[in-house]
Amino acid sequence: MKTSKKGGSSSGKSATSAEPEIETLDVYEASAKYYDIWSEDFKEDIEFYKQLAESAGSPILECMCGTGRILIPLAKAGYDITGVDRSASMLDRCTEKIELLDEEVQERIDIIHADVMEFKSPSKFKLVIVPFNSFLHLLETADQEKALGNMVDHMADDGLLTISIFNPRLDRPVGLLRHDGTKLTAQGEIISKFETQTFDMASQTTTVHYFYDVSRQDRQLRRVTTTFVLRYIFYREAMDLFRRCGLDVLEVYGDYALSPFKKESELMIFVARKAR
Ligand SMILES: C[S@@+](CC[C@H](N)C(=O)[O-])C[C@H]1O[C@@H](n2cnc3c(N)ncnc32)[C@H](O)[C@@H]1O
Repeated sequence: MKTSKKGGSSSGKSATSAEPEIETLDVYEASAKYYDIWSEDFKEDIEFYKQLAESAGSPILECMCGTGRILIPLAKAGYDITGVDRSASMLDRCTEKIELLDEEVQERIDIIHADVMEFKSPSKFKLVIVPFNSFLHLLETADQEKALGNMVDHMADDGLLTISIFNPRLDRPVGLLRHDGTKLTAQGEIISKFETQTFDMASQTTTVHYFYDVSRQDRQLRRVTTTFVLRYIFYREAMDLFRRCGLDVLEVYGDYALSPFKKESELMIFVARKAR
């Protein structure tokens, strides 16, 4: 495994002379451990990426690879894969898992610690994947274009790019606290996850709050709260974005079983190639 680190962490301070100093810790820096505990059971999309890899081939680029939920199974399946992520904590967890793999699998993996808008790699990739709503972390249209432009620059001429995001529903309940489940960790912690969401129709963003309640039977409860903003995108808007960034959309699926996208589909899974 090769790792290139950008140094420093993703947390930062935002302050002007007129505003109080607010610490803005990246959500994934704050909660990589909890992200991993919750996402490790989600495997529904892995077969989809394996099938795409089978037709597109190696090398693969996973943008916003996080803790390696998809990257590791693809490397184990025999593909050369590079993962890019800006969170040092997420990549640390990913690296810990990679170090447990057979050496020959480890050699198929490169990790780049960088923003998807800025990363550079000498490779041209046969397949670029952006799974699990990650693209929605790009909040401004200019950022979406910059990131997609950078991905297109890293695609082989006959390469494919796929992005999976949720299909926005405007009738989602607001103000409800949902219990996403309770898990017992190997260290004996009982962790319950709760979630609530608000929507801002003007900026087309949703603010998501996760509350992780951590306890150990009779010990006092500890709550870890994280907040992040996603910029949701509609179908037409996404199609226009891809076209502006030099991509032809070949397929749009509504789920990982490859059902065609319909207006009521849960997901929008775009598969595109470089415009010819
Ligand atoms: C929902 S997680 C997805 C992780 C992984 N792809 C998966 O499917 O489990 C989103 C990841 O995007 C990363 N991320 C968000 N914005 C980013 C950016 N601009 N550049 C690089 N990584 C980013 C976060 O650090 C986080 O690890």
